[in-house]
Amino acid sequence: MSQSEVHVISHPLVQHKLTLMREQNRSTSSFRRLLNEISMLMAYEVTRDMPTQLIEIETPLEKMRSPVIDGKKTVFVNIMRAGAGFLDGMLNVVPGARVGHVGLYRDPKTLVAVEYYFKMPHSMHERDAIVLDPMLATGNSAVAAIDRLKEASPRSIRFVCLLAAPEGIRNLSETHPDVPIYTAAIDRGLNDHGYIMPGLGDAGDRMFGTR
Ligand code: URA
Repeated sequence: MSQSEVHVISHPLVQHKLTLMREQNRSTSSFRRLLNEISMLMAYEVTRDMPTQLIEIETPLEKMRSPVIDGKKTVFVNIMRAGAGFLDGMLNVVPGARVGHVGLYRDPKTLVAVEYYFKMPHSMHERDAIVLDPMLATGNSAVAAIDRLKEASPRSIRFVCLLAAPEGIRNLSETHPDVPIYTAAIDRGLNDHGYIMPGLGDAGDRMFGTR
């Protein structure tokens, strides 16, 4: 059976910032700033092989042909709510990107993802979609979001998270083997409540200061 490509972004700056984010006493503002910084660094890796095309421009000295990103604008797909923290940093690096939203909540008993919102930009078939969710735990939300996203037929789909559990990688890559996964780390596994261990706790609560 084919499996997704999994890219662990081992850049020292990403790893350093992730360690700081894991610390339990880190303030909400510091956690949010680190997430913003780490997502900019991850955006750089995730977009590394984007197709480009040459266009004609004029420098102050002469005309030249120079590369720009090919095709319609990238769409970042925010899996609400924790994907929002990832989104700001990604948009700093790709400011022209469009943004789609998928609203899912995790049923606390079954851990199954339930959809309550879905909105994408037009012409999805001409766009490359980058799906954002900081935590790939069971993988149920990512699978449900990508099931739904595929109905809109984007040109390509990538999935980006900060932390992944082996269970989530297995689930996502068996269900959507065509979707590459980008993560800063693969942790040990899930606990009985579906949290990634050792993890960093509830990413949404930590970034928004809720509990
Ligand atoms: N969602 C989180 O925010 N944290 C986890 O550890 C698992 C899912």
